[in-house]
Amino acid sequence: MILGILGSASKDSITRVALLAVRDRLVAAGESFDLVDLAVEYRELHDVEQYDDPDPVSQTWALRRRVAAAAAVVLATPVYHGSFSGLLKNAVDHLLGDAFAGRPVGLVANGGGPRSGGGACDQLRSVVRALGGWSAPTHLAITGADFIDSRPSRFTSERMDALVNELRTFATASRTGFTTECPATG
Ligand SMILES: Cc1cc2nc3c(=O)[nH]c(=O)nc-3n(C[C@H](O)[C@H](O)[C@H](O)COP(=O)(O)O)c2cc1C
Repeated sequence: MILGILGSASKDSITRVALLAVRDRLVAAGESFDLVDLAVEYRELHDVEQYDDPDPVSQTWALRRRVAAAAAVVLATPVYHGSFSGLLKNAVDHLLGDAFAGRPVGLVANGGGPRSGGGACDQLRSVVRALGGWSAPTHLAITGADFIDSRPSRFTSERMDALVNELRTFATASRTGFTTECPATG
């Protein structure tokens, strides 16, 4: 199962449109997908009292279970003030430092301007590293103009395909075990 975490609370969110387009590609490739809509499901602020020993009925416990069940994760965020959303930051603060260990993580950031998404994705790379995950090299730094009638442009579509391919390749390698042998040189 691949888990998509949506960090936009906007009713007409383009980040959501992009995440669902990635989901459609994953499902078409035979993966199952679980969507975490943070604005609907995990609205409470992170309770640090729950961090070390969370109550099984707490939001902290529930979110950790969802992440632990995933072979890969996609983090999708709007760009707010040059960064990712507080909603997404609040979610990752619920997680332990090894929450993404052994998992590839895809990054999607949608900004109002054409050059803002890359910065948010780069910041999320630091977060993924802090949680032990492996950021996919291809990210989606997008804006509304990359979609026509909620469908991605050809360029955006090709990048989505590349991201999906990286996530699936890494998730499979992680499931089956990486080789520790280095290729012969000379
Ligand atoms: C509080 C706030 C801050 C924003 N800051 C930026 C910004 O720094 N750069 C940018 O390109 N867009 C910025 N935007 C515009 C949003 O990225 C844009 O509305 C985008 O469509 C949000 O994604 P969504 O449609 O998925 O919610 C900001 C919007 C809000 C509400």
